[in-house]
Amino acid sequence: MAGGAGVRLWIGFFFTFVLPGIALHNDIGVNWGSMLTHPMLPIDVVEMLKDNGITKVKLFDADDWTVTALGGSGIEVMVAIPNDQLQRMNNYGNAKDWVEENVTRYDVENGVSIKYIAVGNEPFLATYNNSFDKITFPALKNIQKALDESGAGTRIKATIPLNADVYGSPEDNPVPSAGDFKPGYRKLMQDIVKFLHQNGAPFLVNIYPFLSLYQGEDFPLDYAFFEGRSAPVVDGNIQYTNVFDANFDTLVWSLKKAGVPDIKIVVGEVGWPTDGDQYANSKLAKRFYDGFLKKIAKKEGTPLRPGKIEVYLFGLIDEDLKSIAPGNFERHWGIFTYDGKPKFPMDLTGKDNDKLLVPVKNVTYLPEQWCTLNEHGDKTADLSGNVNYACSAGDCTALGYGSSCNGLDERGNISYAFNMYFQMQDQDVRACDFQGLAVITTKNASRNGCLFPVQIFSAGEWSSVVSLPVVGLAVMAVMMVLL
Ligand SMILES: *[C@@H]1O[C@H](CO)[C@@H](O)[C@H](O)[C@H]1NC(C)=O
Ligand SMILES: *[C@@H]1O[C@H](CO)[C@@H](O)[C@H](O)[C@H]1NC(C)=O
Ligand SMILES: *[C@@H]1O[C@H](CO)[C@@H](O)[C@H](O)[C@H]1NC(C)=O
Ligand SMILES: *[C@@H]1O[C@H](CO)[C@@H](O)[C@H](O)[C@H]1NC(C)=O
Ligand SMILES: *[C@@H]1O[C@H](CO)[C@@H](O)[C@H](O)[C@H]1NC(C)=O
Repeated sequence: MAGGAGVRLWIGFFFTFVLPGIALHNDIGVNWGSMLTHPMLPIDVVEMLKDNGITKVKLFDADDWTVTALGGSGIEVMVAIPNDQLQRMNNYGNAKDWVEENVTRYDVENGVSIKYIAVGNEPFLATYNNSFDKITFPALKNIQKALDESGAGTRIKATIPLNADVYGSPEDNPVPSAGDFKPGYRKLMQDIVKFLHQNGAPFLVNIYPFLSLYQGEDFPLDYAFFEGRSAPVVDGNIQYTNVFDANFDTLVWSLKKAGVPDIKIVVGEVGWPTDGDQYANSKLAKRFYDGFLKKIAKKEGTPLRPGKIEVYLFGLIDEDLKSIAPGNFERHWGIFTYDGKPKFPMDLTGKDNDKLLVPVKNVTYLPEQWCTLNEHGDKTADLSGNVNYACSAGDCTALGYGSSCNGLDERGNISYAFNMYFQMQDQDVRACDFQGLAVITTKNASRNGCLFPVQIFSAGEWSSVVSLPVVGLAVMAVMMVLL
């Protein structure tokens, strides 16, 4: 892979010249995903994290360019091994190499402060058809062993991000005290959580009140938020007024029954999307974050685990390449838009001092032009076929019921689809043809409160501008992930 000496030089450059002017004033982590067509420069995103006092990030891989950009920032990092690499990590030699290349190399004075390794991502989800059931725990053990052998194991812990698929969610269980790991996973989970506990590693759980609301037909809206509920869920002498607490405590019960009542729990993902569903909008997202951030700042914890909870918001930036199999909202989880702008005022310190977060600076846009329906196009061309193509290769997730662009008329819909495809294709003129049905315009095509975006210059393309070979390699890695 990347040549060692070159990489070290490059990292050395960063640690020497890009030292932090940090203003650390909150204890909130964020998930920084990379499933997007037009990533911003990692160093610009890191500046933004520092400007907003964000102290922790969770990544979904260990991309060299991103991890290097975090060097010397003082920001704590969780790197990850994607599910498709779990099989490879069943070989100890590979696990050792992974740790050497993606952890130990950065683990130097003023380097990258890596704290956790996420082994897989929700590998036991029902949709994966048990594909990762046998290979996840061996991968976890190999990674922790490699960390221990490298001498970093006392500070850096491997864990597995999981969700309620392995224990009964509040929707399956009438009350948290009924929680337990599901019969099919009970033995495996008992072994995993004992291993985590022995190694001082936390249980990493993703909790999504939004999904409870989205999936549950009769789910009470106020139970997804934190303002109290007229009909709380009563469990013995505890009253649950929000589903976050109930979900968390269902896990606490499951861990208790698995014999590790005091294992640390970290919330690996929690958040609210802003588009792509009737419940996904900035107003409800703001309501959720306001209540959640206040709760975290008060360190009140949950009824069974009072005190501080370590959390990572999902997510940092909208990702237009995420699979929409779970729902159209998948591409709209960011607290920042694709171009690094805050979506709504919030206060990460939970002090009710709302303001817009600091945007990503130094973002360069493509020219101000849009692709729209050509009113004089060939009437015999296959319009619906072209729109379907634009939507499947592009992004029409804002058009559906309850979404930000649902108010468009049919022509608006078509133009929206064409434009999204065109922008995602870097405004390539060939991407605004659609058998003559489309035309490029410099007149802002946004309408009826629906934003027709102009894409940004993708940092992935700096490879041709910045000639340092290591950056080139990292860019290739980014592009390979994207393809
Ligand atoms: C800002 O963007 C330019 C390209 O437009 C890039 O070369 C430069 O490194 C960036 N500067 C910072 C401080 O991010
Ligand atoms: C380190 O992580 C990167 C990015 O996730 C991956 O492509 C690479 O294969 C890993 N290195 C090793 C030696 O496994
Ligand atoms: C899982 O199984 C179902 C039904 O057996 C199948 O339709 C689906 O494609 C499978 N998914 C994966 C990821 O293998
Ligand atoms: C526009 O597209 C959306 C999503 O496909 C659809 O729900 C809506 O009915 C369409 N509107 C018109 C006027 O065709
Ligand atoms: C186009 O118009 C929309 C809605 O008025 C606005 O938010 C957006 O910034 C405009 N885009 C450009 C590139 O001017």
